[in-house]
Amino acid sequence: MNTFENLLGYFKKDSMLHARFINTISLLEYIGARKILKSQHEGAISATVLGHVSEEIRHAQIFKRVALKMSGGKLPTYDDQYLLAGPAARDYFQGLDHGIAAELEIPNGWLNYLYSTLLIEERAGKIYPSYNLFLGEQGFPGVLEAIVLEENEHLKDVYDFLGEADAEKMEMRLVRMRALEERLYDAFMKQALTECQVHVQNEPSWTISPTA
Ligand SMILES: [Fe+2]
Ligand SMILES: [Fe+2]
Repeated sequence: MNTFENLLGYFKKDSMLHARFINTISLLEYIGARKILKSQHEGAISATVLGHVSEEIRHAQIFKRVALKMSGGKLPTYDDQYLLAGPAARDYFQGLDHGIAAELEIPNGWLNYLYSTLLIEERAGKIYPSYNLFLGEQGFPGVLEAIVLEENEHLKDVYDFLGEADAEKMEMRLVRMRALEERLYDAFMKQALTECQVHVQNEPSWTISPTA
């Protein structure tokens, strides 16, 4: 059983932990949108980029609504108390950003955006389809279907852009960047799992209802 499957075991038994995780995923979608806006010069903003930003904000909103519903409205913001492994989630994004910048050697906001998007969309492609089924079992069917389709489109777009902007070095760089993303993702998941374990230890009754 991998770390993510382990996490799902905790979420099945404690919907408040699950809701906090969903709020954290919402935060990651929001950071994704904000990072595009902060990092891109106006000269780089096309209809495709605008579409990407607005879709990431919408993904954040979709996850946020599920988190609110599942928690009975108890997770209003992205304050750490409402998240699961919030700092580790932020570290995931920061780590990618810094690692990609180091790999590029010469600062290039456009390439950084393309590589970070590609790595994140690849991760979403590995996690979201099975997580969508799990959410369905937990009473939230089909939540991720539109998101999965849009993430796939983002992946295709950035792959095409990278083919133009960094064709020669792309595959070589991606080998190292994918390894980095894997390490950062593992660290985030492990921290989430640790917080679930601590939560259970501190709460022997293991509260199931979010309103209890
Ligand atoms: Fe997204
Ligand atoms: Fe995306």
